[in-house]
Amino acid sequence: MQLEFWRNELLSVDYAAGKDFARGLLVKAARDIVRPSLGSNPTWPKPPLRRRARDVHAILCETGGSMVQDLEQMYPQLKSHDLAIRMGDARKLPLEDGAADAVLTSPPYLSRIDYVRATLPELLVLGWDSDMKVRQLRTSIMGGVLTARQAEVDPDTLGPKLRGVLTSIKTHESKASESYYTILAEQYFSDLSRSLAEMKRVLKPGGRGLVVVQSSFYKDVAIPLPSLVLEMLEGIGCPGKVLQEEAVSQHFGHLSPHQRKYVCHKVLQESVVLFQK
Ligand SMILES: C[S@@+](CC[C@H](N)C(=O)[O-])C[C@H]1O[C@@H](n2cnc3c(N)ncnc32)[C@H](O)[C@@H]1O
Repeated sequence: MQLEFWRNELLSVDYAAGKDFARGLLVKAARDIVRPSLGSNPTWPKPPLRRRARDVHAILCETGGSMVQDLEQMYPQLKSHDLAIRMGDARKLPLEDGAADAVLTSPPYLSRIDYVRATLPELLVLGWDSDMKVRQLRTSIMGGVLTARQAEVDPDTLGPKLRGVLTSIKTHESKASESYYTILAEQYFSDLSRSLAEMKRVLKPGGRGLVVVQSSFYKDVAIPLPSLVLEMLEGIGCPGKVLQEEAVSQHFGHLSPHQRKYVCHKVLQESVVLFQK
């Protein structure tokens, strides 16, 4: 019956890569499939007002097709074809020390975007499929808007520039600056410093990291995130530099009347910070 032969043939196929491809496909297609409507806050997808017919099969084929094209283009340039997706927390990466040649990341900025709400369709296909799991993620996510936990790294240890920014937030005249917003900012910078330390830990000696960050404002207080990241990197013995910088004039601050009141024509900087271990 040649069963053994067929079994070996089938088991020699790397299904893990196929599963990861399928998972990536679902994440990329999720939004086109659910077609949320966008209310006054475009970062909060809402159920569509009217159900429209959609062709899920066509969406999956089109998305999968463009992923295959990307892979075909990239494949010849890759040193290793051992591709895998692993999910984890940037503050506690599921990788051994010195395992990575490079790290590329775009962490949340201090802009109080609720990324869990903003990415609910994608999170659902990745396994956040109950209210309880979503609630837990909202309290633990980096840059989250809930203050249910304490900062784990003492922000006073993270450098004079950062201390100055935190003092400006804490002493701002507006309501809740000293309480809610200070707790959020301390939590945020503590998480960011933990994730930078993790990047250093998993990089090989000489390995490089690229961190894309954007400046923001708290009311009229400038939060120069790129230079704060450089200060933190210096603090962990991985000095970095800004590789590329771009002004961002269209951002969510313009949509909020509360934010417009403070700095009406804010131009933010998006920077690519490069560092080496
Ligand atoms: C500025 S966005 C980057 C978006 C990304 N570059 C993209 O194109 O989709 C920050 C992302 O970091 C994610 N995030 C927040 N806390 C995290 C954590 N502790 N570990 C890993 N990712 C986290 C957020 O969910 C959000 O998707």
